[in-house]
Amino acid sequence: MIPESFIQELLHRVDVVDLIDGYVPLKKAGANFAACCPFHNEKSPSFTVSPTKQFYHCFGCGAHGTAIGFLMEYSGLGFIDAIKELSNRAGLQMPEEEGRENRAHDAPKITALTEIMARAAKYYYEQLKRSEKAIAYLKGRGISGEIAQRFGIGYAPDGWQNLGAAFEDYTITALQLVGLVIKNEQGRLYDRFRDRIMFPIMNQKGEVIAFGGRVLGEGEPKYLNSPETPLFEKGREVFGLPQARTALREKDTAIVVEGYMDVVALAQHKVGNAVATLGTATTTTHVQKLLRQVDHIVFCFDGDAAGRKAAWRALENSLEALPEKKSIGFAFLPEADDPDSFIRGQGTEAFERTIAQATPLSEFLLRELASNCDISSAEGRARLVAEAKPLLGRLQTPLLRLQLVKRLAEISGFSQPEVERLCNLRPIARSAPAKAPRQKYSLFPRLLRLLLQKPELAKGLPLDVLGTNSPEVRAVRYLCETIVAAGNPTPSYAALLERLRGNEDESVLREAAAELMQHPFAEEDIDAEFDGVVKRLREGDSKRAFDILQEKVYKLGVAGLSSEEKQHYLQALGARGRSG
Ligand code: UTP
Ligand code: MN
Repeated sequence: MIPESFIQELLHRVDVVDLIDGYVPLKKAGANFAACCPFHNEKSPSFTVSPTKQFYHCFGCGAHGTAIGFLMEYSGLGFIDAIKELSNRAGLQMPEEEGRENRAHDAPKITALTEIMARAAKYYYEQLKRSEKAIAYLKGRGISGEIAQRFGIGYAPDGWQNLGAAFEDYTITALQLVGLVIKNEQGRLYDRFRDRIMFPIMNQKGEVIAFGGRVLGEGEPKYLNSPETPLFEKGREVFGLPQARTALREKDTAIVVEGYMDVVALAQHKVGNAVATLGTATTTTHVQKLLRQVDHIVFCFDGDAAGRKAAWRALENSLEALPEKKSIGFAFLPEADDPDSFIRGQGTEAFERTIAQATPLSEFLLRELASNCDISSAEGRARLVAEAKPLLGRLQTPLLRLQLVKRLAEISGFSQPEVERLCNLRPIARSAPAKAPRQKYSLFPRLLRLLLQKPELAKGLPLDVLGTNSPEVRAVRYLCETIVAAGNPTPSYAALLERLRGNEDESVLREAAAELMQHPFAEEDIDAEFDGVVKRLREGDSKRAFDILQEKVYKLGVAGLSSEEKQHYLQALGARGRSG
């Protein structure tokens, strides 16, 4: 494990502005620096770097991190490698790894596993050239040698221990760890993939992390995939990403399809910007990952019932990941087609047209909901609104939500405010007006920003008055505990951010930091601001306690209170009377 203190020291030594400027030329913009974001396509700069807080934030795509995070994202380095690289630049000696199961120990293991996958991919690729029937199969499906090479398509020959030819020692556990070799109950080892066309699945860096293997012709399962391994987590990866990179840039659109062969066939027909989810539903992570690189996603699934269902799942999982100014559409193919058969049958132009005419997310959402409800009856229309409710709640984009509310109002015959009330919609965080009851909610983001700007304040925050368990409150708690546990010197924001890597409420902190970047508190006001927030929290706390007592009194009468509670209750009543 790399000691915390070393990470702090490192972040202290390197200047994130210098570092990033070496890759993406930065321009001064007020107290910060700005550039067009290297992580997504844009024309005006929303990528911002804070020299004082030593982090970057993109107001367009939400990319956010420290110098370490930047190297990881920009150069595709792992955590350890990013630290190594930064240490070199800063002339610091990286401490030797120590301890047992930890990240530092994992690092060489991961590279070793990646090498194994690369070697296996090369082996399969060479075997393809030697197998007439495998070549014939691909030819039969219209795949040229050039495209097969581009995707690294290979062939796993028939037989039980072929990989023994590619690896000196077939028995090493690493081969089992990456899912290439299986040990049966008798302890015998054998190849997972036998007599299959092999599709290597690569990460963003182009490293092979898994395989999908197709039978030649009929057979079960049609596709056999690598299991989840230390290299491969299904819900995060897509097939075809490194091959699609240039086309994604050019078209600013990612076409998401279901199958390996769909991606390959589209590429064969000059549609290079397609990727496939790997036999799983499209996840929020998938969508986030793609929206970092492009502004538009079009889901183009098979024309059958399963494909339509997959499209709906994709919609549900996209809602949370959809930022303003990005769009998601759904292209529907004829019943019997998948993208592969469609483009082979109808050609590139017809396919491109289908993509261009994709149904916008909002329309698909309403159409699908309306088709489940009989909107000619009042009950059906009420049901429509009820079914829309959980979906609208997930949307983070005020404009799109407003648009949907308007359309829902039209269809359902309710007024717009009625729809909003029925769907229990609160204003979306950023645009929330500061009205009385809501002030309580906006307290926590404010508190978070105060703590991020001046972490020492954490030591003076009474945690018992925080109350409800919202993400903001959890983030405040976590932040305070981390700061207090770190002792002296108080960690900087960048150091805190590194500690929070992977925390479930990281995004709340990022938002607070981003807001702070644009509107920092004046140094001289900060303590008074903090005292004010604490005071209001205390008031809220005693009000909550009072509400609980009040409710008991309604139910049980004053006699239902213990003598201690009665005293509190009377005191609070008195205080209320005085304050009016
Ligand atoms: P499909 O059944 O639609 O296959 O599965 P396909 O892509 O059209 O394949 P071809 O054209 O018959 O060769 C879509 C995707 O679902 C996953 C694979 O990722 C496949 O590409 N899948 C399918 C599996 O993982 N296992 C299976 O047995 C079938
Ligand atoms: Mn197919």
